[in-house]
Formats: sequence, structure tokens, C-alpha cells
Amino acid sequence: AIERTLSIIKPDATKRNLTGKINAKFEEAGLRIAAQKRIKLSPEQAGKFYEVHKDRPFYGELVEFMASEPVVVQVLEGESAIAKNREVMGATNPADAAEGTIRKEFALSVGENSVHGSDAPETAAQEIAFFFSGLELVG
Ligand code: CMP
Repeated sequence: AIERTLSIIKPDATKRNLTGKINAKFEEAGLRIAAQKRIKLSPEQAGKFYEVHKDRPFYGELVEFMASEPVVVQVLEGESAIAKNREVMGATNPADAAEGTIRKEFALSVGENSVHGSDAPETAAQEIAFFFSGLELVG
């Protein structure tokens, strides 16, 4: 089915001017960039977005990192977009990421791993609504 998923190009990648190269990977994989904006998250906003991880030891570091520089938030659309995006991103830890994936090519570490992508249909819907209004999403 055609799905939508929420993607974030993280501070380590925006800082190194990798937005275009990362977007090319998405488009080459058949994902359409249906909506996109560059924003700077406050620590409060980053903390709220990653609330599910609040009890993890890396939560503080994750929130600080995500609020450190602008991010590009985007809605990717296409056939099985959620799984396809996860495939294109590669494993969370770049040391485990497959050849040709975004994290293998660009990520610096498990924390500074260049991209985020929703992990399931329910989280995709929640995460898209966190950043985008209905008006910003064309049909
Ligand atoms: P993401 O897909 O954005 O979801 C949660 C993030 O937490 C994950 O990518 C990683 O960037 C980050 N993360 C996971 N494990 C660690 C870790 N051990 N140390 C720092 N950050 C981590």
C-alpha cells in the first residue's frame, strides 16, 4: 500500500550539507518527498518528540544533539514507505549498517546517525502530525 512516513535529517547531516545527497537516496529508492521544512528544535520540542526514550541512558544526549543545529523534517511517501525508508537508512548503528545505506555512507556514530525514520504505521501518523498540519500536506 502507499504509505507516508516521517523522516528527519539530523543535525550532524544538515551541518555537513548532506541534505541533497540524503534526499537523492530517498528519491532513488522511489520515495517521494511529499513535504519538507528546515527547523530548529528547542530542547523541549526534541524531548517531547523522543519521549518514548525518556528512561534510556542516552535520552539527555539525544535531546541535546537534536536541538543543537537545524534539522530537516520531511514526509516521505510511496509503496511501503515505512519499511522502504528504514531499508534506505540502514541500521541505527552505522557500524552495523549495510553497504549503500545512508547511515553506512554518512553517519558518524549511533547517536549522530544522520537520519530518523518512523518505525510503524501508528508512529508514522503520530510523528507526521507532530511536525505537519493538514494544510502542509498536499494530496
Ligand atoms: P532514531 O531512529 O532517531 O531513534 C532514537 C535515537 O536514539 C536513535 O535514532 C539513535 O540516534 C539514538 N540512540 C540509540 N542508541 C543510542 C546510544 N547508545 N547512544 C546515543 N544515542 C543513541
